[in-house]
Amino acid sequence: MTGINRPLEGRVAFITGAARGQGRAHAVRLATEGADIIAIDICAPISETITYPMGTSEELAETVRAVEATGRKALAREVDIRDLAALQQVVADGVEQFGRLDILVANAGVLSWGRIWEMSEEQWDTVIDVNLNGTWRTIRATLPAMIAAGNGGSVIIVSSSAGLKATPGNAHYAASKHGLTALTNSLAIEAGEFGIRVNSIHPYSIETPMVEKDAMMAIFAKHPSYLHSFAPMPYNPLDEENKGLQGFMEPDEVADVVAWLAGDGSKTLSGSQIAVDRGAMKH
Ligand SMILES: NC(=O)c1ccc[n+]([C@@H]2O[C@H](COP(=O)([O-])OP(=O)(O)OC[C@H]3O[C@@H](n4cnc5c(N)ncnc54)[C@H](O)[C@@H]3O)[C@@H](O)[C@H]2O)c1
Repeated sequence: MTGINRPLEGRVAFITGAARGQGRAHAVRLATEGADIIAIDICAPISETITYPMGTSEELAETVRAVEATGRKALAREVDIRDLAALQQVVADGVEQFGRLDILVANAGVLSWGRIWEMSEEQWDTVIDVNLNGTWRTIRATLPAMIAAGNGGSVIIVSSSAGLKATPGNAHYAASKHGLTALTNSLAIEAGEFGIRVNSIHPYSIETPMVEKDAMMAIFAKHPSYLHSFAPMPYNPLDEENKGLQGFMEPDEVADVVAWLAGDGSKTLSGSQIAVDRGAMKH
């Protein structure tokens, strides 16, 4: 099938944090639209300061199965986005196998909770090193291949509502995600010279293992005024499909936006910050 049903036919996408959650949803959606997928995930613990488990090898294998079920090809590897050499190797192997690279979804990230002056160095460093430095390394490893392929392309940087506004209780996360907003906009200008568009998405409250409801409730119980910075997710009463999910959105709903940004339907957008929050941040 070609054309409107497979708008990404012939293109290749590199997706980080693809074992589960939003990353898996993006991998499967882009494959459904015709792209071959290079999927990476750390599939290993990161630090004791990250209190929820990371994706697993089995989950990454499940992503591969789901991509292949769409009829597309997948190359998956366990890579830490803090490891530039490993990223460069998987990019080289992916380009050798699939012939080109068109789309980057820089999605891997981690979250923890605490006040700025109380967190440990390891807690601060882990979040900054994965979310900001790791995303830069992801760009450092992939952009040369996208430029060399000569087909232009689309880069989607997964920031957060915390990349646009204050979020007390996770300032290290907010600093990293604001950093990604800046990185997006500078890269949009630099990569624009090669026909590559760069936009950031800013999701809010997506139902994945990163959202530890108990950890959030604990920090709000300790510091009730912080609650004002986390608006409730507006609920669409007409959305039958997600009726049980008040307060959260599904990874698939974010994948709708990523697929649109990856494809030519968004060709006028670069250097844009797209809120994926049902308007919650306007409250
Ligand atoms: N869930 C939300 O409400 C929400 C809101 C806004 C933004 N985000 C962002 O969305 C992105 C995806 O998160 P998610 O909600 O799917 O959470 P998730 O924890 O389910 O998925 C993140 C994946 O990234 C992987 N990962 C973490 N560190 C890595 C590293 N160093 N190298 C390679 N892989 C690594 C994990 O193993 C995991 O599989 C993150 O960047 C997150 O900050 C999430």
